[in-house]
Amino acid sequence: MTEKTTTTFAGDLTGLSNRINFYERLTPEFYRQEVDKVYRRGWLMVACASDIPNPNDYVAREVPPLNTCLIVARGSDGEVRAFHNMCRHRGNRVVTEAEGNARKFTCGFHGWTYFNDGRLAAVTDRTQFKGIDEAELGLIPLHTEVWEDFVFVNFDRQPRMTLREWMDSWYDGFRGYFHGRQKVANQTIDLECNWNVVMNAFSEGYHALYVHRATVPDYQGGPQNPERHRPYIGVSKYHGLYSVEGSIDHKPTLAEGISYGRGRPMYPTFTPNITADRDLPPGVNPLRIRNWLHDIIEIFPNIYIVAAGDFHTVGWFWPIDENRTHVTIDYYAYEAKSVDDHMAHAYFRTILREVFREDVGVMENVHRQFKSGAMTDIVLSQQELLLQKHFSAVDRMVAEP
Ligand code: FES
Ligand SMILES: [Fe+2]
Repeated sequence: MTEKTTTTFAGDLTGLSNRINFYERLTPEFYRQEVDKVYRRGWLMVACASDIPNPNDYVAREVPPLNTCLIVARGSDGEVRAFHNMCRHRGNRVVTEAEGNARKFTCGFHGWTYFNDGRLAAVTDRTQFKGIDEAELGLIPLHTEVWEDFVFVNFDRQPRMTLREWMDSWYDGFRGYFHGRQKVANQTIDLECNWNVVMNAFSEGYHALYVHRATVPDYQGGPQNPERHRPYIGVSKYHGLYSVEGSIDHKPTLAEGISYGRGRPMYPTFTPNITADRDLPPGVNPLRIRNWLHDIIEIFPNIYIVAAGDFHTVGWFWPIDENRTHVTIDYYAYEAKSVDDHMAHAYFRTILREVFREDVGVMENVHRQFKSGAMTDIVLSQQELLLQKHFSAVDRMVAEP
């Protein structure tokens, strides 16, 4: 007889509620509070350190809820810093390319120049400016810290907690996991729905059996877990993680069989029982479950990560306003060593993009329907514990003075 999979819940679950008034969260007033108390005070992930691997590399990143664009730059000294992309003369965006490598940035409006550590390097026609002090007119910096491969910023004048405190018990659990892979795809879309709806869509696996029945019908499930319960769901003060079990009955399609048969497979976990001893840091697949497919990591407030043995994806869900969300997802996989590996990558990004497209369709429908006001509350199962945690973290921060 097959032993059924049960869920292990971990972390402090007190104060979580399985009934959430969602309707009241869709007003401009509530959104304003989310921006002021959550986005302006929490640590926000704005880039990957591997996007700027070399000295003087930089990227420009939009942060829609704070109405700003940031320059995230690695200085000649190797240090990662972030600044508002805003000239101290009359406010023009200094950097206009999405990425590059430069020791200095020159504003295209009147030619003021800044070092990539933020200091003002030169003012054009300097004699015409009376009573200014260059030392005070550097690019406006943000509190910036790097955790694993991720660059975080904090918009608060004085952050209320360190990034270590923000990451809590997770801080040391993922050491090295995100390194050594190559970016193989990117996907960007603006959605007509509230940012919480987008986060919620990835915070549970309850929907997988229904939404993804066409693309990945048997990646999960099987006789031991027909309802696709998560074997592990854990929460920290702000964040959440669950592990996903692969189906031992998975039958590859023709395309998958060819792609992963020749190249290195993306999910070696479909070979029964080989995954319990994978070389992973303790934060990933924390229970060391067998037939492990991947983990879903929710980094509060707006980051969603799929963490598998040989790939990870990073989703950034930026609210634009209470009705719109800017989504971008980066896909990272093992470094391809052969043409066959590249083919496996191609299959992987094709299937994952399709899976994501299926998720998107549902989100906009939920949002549209909630605007009717016909119902106010959503009800959540135990398998949707990360949604409970997400809303509890939002409410806790919104309630702070
Ligand atoms: S606004 Fe940048 S130099 Fe004038
Ligand atoms: Fe999904």
